[in-house]
Amino acid sequence: MEKDLSNYRKSYEKNPLLKDMLPENPLELFQKWFYAADEFDGIEEANVMHVATIGLDGYPKNRVVLLKRFTWEGFIFYTNYNSEKGKSISENPNVCATFFWHSLERQIIIKGKAEKIAENLSDGYFDSRPEGSKLGAWASNQSDVINSREDLDLKLRAYEKKYQNKEIPRPDYWGGYIIKPDSMEFWQGRPNRMHDRIRYMLQKDYNWKIERLEP
Ligand SMILES: Cc1cc2nc3c(=O)[nH]c(=O)nc-3n(C[C@H](O)[C@H](O)[C@H](O)COP(=O)(O)O)c2cc1C
Repeated sequence: MEKDLSNYRKSYEKNPLLKDMLPENPLELFQKWFYAADEFDGIEEANVMHVATIGLDGYPKNRVVLLKRFTWEGFIFYTNYNSEKGKSISENPNVCATFFWHSLERQIIIKGKAEKIAENLSDGYFDSRPEGSKLGAWASNQSDVINSREDLDLKLRAYEKKYQNKEIPRPDYWGGYIIKPDSMEFWQGRPNRMHDRIRYMLQKDYNWKIERLEP
């Protein structure tokens, strides 16, 4: 099998990212770019976030999760703490999260540390989820091998029965992580591959050092 993609070429020319546009805190710029993506007609699920972890097997692994909240502290997503990513994070909390909003020709790369959020915050979010998603969290030992789809559906039916007309609690192995950023890199596509790249790095005094990188 072979397919030559060497003539796939797009010129990026929407916006510049210049010094006078940069706030002192990268979270502020994240918020601005996130709102722009969220309000942009052609962008579905602006909160799609690619999170890479360092696996127990030594390989990095990247997967999509949904960003569910961001604050001055960082970026929160929910998952199964026993999943492959959960096990990776418990061994090595260093992660990399990436957003790419194609229509805006913008990428953000966040390096940081993931930590579990407080249990009451996970409870609050779990309670807000639709019943089906709550049961799904019980039925899925995320990332474990399972024999068949039928086995999975059977597990779901068993939990449906167990919690029929009952409140569904949050499984203790399911909850949120917050990624606290150490560095954030903003990429804005520009013509002739002369893209704008601005990197913020958190300093010991909690100020952010701002640098421009070559494209
Ligand atoms: C659009 C999209 C959204 C997703 N959102 C989540 C999520 O918020 N949490 C989650 O655990 N998995 C989510 N997934 C599934 C993950 O990509 C992944 O398959 C799962 O978390 C298991 O990953 P792991 O085995 O590396 O731990 C999503 C997948 C897609 C494509």
